[in-house]
Amino acid sequence: MKKPTITVIGSINMDMVTTTDQVPDQGETVLGKAFQTVHGGKGANQAVAAARLGADVHMIGRVGDDPFGSVLKDGLEVEGVSTSCVEPVTHKSSGVASIILSNQDNRIIVTPGANNDVTPEYVQQFLDVITNSDVVLLQFEIPLKTVEYVLQLCEEHGVPVIVNPAPAQQLKLESWLKATCITPNESEKSQLFSDSIDSPLLEKLIVTKGNAGAVYYERDKEIQVSSFDVSPVDTTGAGDTFNGAFAFAIAQSMPKQKALLFANAAAALSVGKFGAQGGMPTLKEVETFMTERGADK
Ligand code: RIB
Repeated sequence: MKKPTITVIGSINMDMVTTTDQVPDQGETVLGKAFQTVHGGKGANQAVAAARLGADVHMIGRVGDDPFGSVLKDGLEVEGVSTSCVEPVTHKSSGVASIILSNQDNRIIVTPGANNDVTPEYVQQFLDVITNSDVVLLQFEIPLKTVEYVLQLCEEHGVPVIVNPAPAQQLKLESWLKATCITPNESEKSQLFSDSIDSPLLEKLIVTKGNAGAVYYERDKEIQVSSFDVSPVDTTGAGDTFNGAFAFAIAQSMPKQKALLFANAAAALSVGKFGAQGGMPTLKEVETFMTERGADK
């Protein structure tokens, strides 16, 4: 099968992860258990997820001219992600995410830094990369005007585009309608879309529900795609693995239901290891897992 070409336009962050049994209240200090820095950013995570599965991935993004910048860029290259469209921003810090891990779940604050310089003018230089993609993936840790610009470009050039609206921010209806698929989690869905939206917007939605799988809509009917029972070590990046894997599957023309089951399997595997990118599986690992769970039929 042909290797799909996926372009991710999004954030690149250093994740500063504190593991703790107790999350502090306002004004309180508590003792944490461990601290680690790992590579993250919703854009970079989705790029790595698709590359581990075997896609040709181009990352369009920016890092700072600080020590994190070169380390983050090198990390993407080690994963086989092309970084020719990742340029450092002079006198800016790289994006960072402060993550608190507790009770097998996370709380995240992102400071975008250089990710704010992923402007329409910056992206415009890479028009050829975008138009030669099988699928483009977008998230909301870069300026929204860039998201709108890329949606417009992809519509003009007939390139399918998956929009992962995280963190939740509102777009104009005309921009949402340019997306091929929109993949909010349940909280983003309730912040961004009313319960009474109808087609064609409704049919673009794929709502991820953690260990309850995902749902999508066909002729106003909600269709459930189940997930896989696993014991999570760290759920950070599970949504990104889902999006990277879904893009990989769609780029190979997998039907929606099958693509979602595949993405759920990749996401389930990803939570088995620490760090947003730590547990992201290879194609072989997803296929073996699906066979073991009887989900390969
Ligand atoms: O989705 C997880 C990611 O969100 C983390 O890697 C962090 O960098 C934030 O962007």
